[in-house]
Amino acid sequence: MSGLERGKIIVLEDGEALAHEAARRFTALALGACAERGRFCVALSGGSTPRRLHALLASPPWREEVPWERVFVFFGDERFLPPDDPESNYAMARETLLSRVPIPPDQVFAFPTVGVTPEDAAREYAETLAEFFAPTAPALDLVLLGIGGDGHTASLFPEKPQVTTPSEALVEAVYDAPKAPPTRLTLTYRAINGARAVIFLVSGRGKAETLRAVLQKPTHPGQLPAQGVHPHDGALLWLVDEAAAGLLNR
Ligand code: 6PG
Repeated sequence: MSGLERGKIIVLEDGEALAHEAARRFTALALGACAERGRFCVALSGGSTPRRLHALLASPPWREEVPWERVFVFFGDERFLPPDDPESNYAMARETLLSRVPIPPDQVFAFPTVGVTPEDAAREYAETLAEFFAPTAPALDLVLLGIGGDGHTASLFPEKPQVTTPSEALVEAVYDAPKAPPTRLTLTYRAINGARAVIFLVSGRGKAETLRAVLQKPTHPGQLPAQGVHPHDGALLWLVDEAAAGLLNR
């Protein structure tokens, strides 16, 4: 994959500057989408990195600038846990953002994780996406992503079928994930790469080796799933801090 396909990289001084840049871009994309299409559809990322971004979006000036009444929130992936489990990505988003901004509750689409099997949950969420965007193919305005030390993103993990033999499904159930909890639900490459914009948020020295491998080593998405993210008609941006960028050839 050429450098261009690997997206644009912006290096920020530290995690705080990264979160501020992400808040600026989130807000600009939201205003642009609402101006063009009357709504902004975003898939939030799990993990810990987005927490500071969420806190900024829930605070002035961004809380007032984002047109929350026209924002529709989805999730890039979910741990197969009850929505009030502290390890749930939905629970983290609700605590840090969704409970602090005036977004109508029926505009937040959490993965179903109670009273369903993972397979049925994946099918149900895929149907939600397909119905929401019908009659066109699902095209999120923004997908926020992180990367793990093994190069995973969302819940697309190395050597797992979603990565080695991607299907046409929009959502899949993941079993025996190497990052706890083992059972998860994830948007697939098809859903992610159909987005108008994808922004990776990568912070900290612990990600430096992985970021270099993902961005500057030969393409092996089976081993480095984040390499499989390149929106077909959308923009790909990496917002990284100096600590995570420390090993990049610049
Ligand atoms: C999850 C996330 C996962 C995360 C990365 C980075 O459910 O765990 O979706 O893909 O984005 O593992 O996590 P941190 O931001 O905590 O480093």
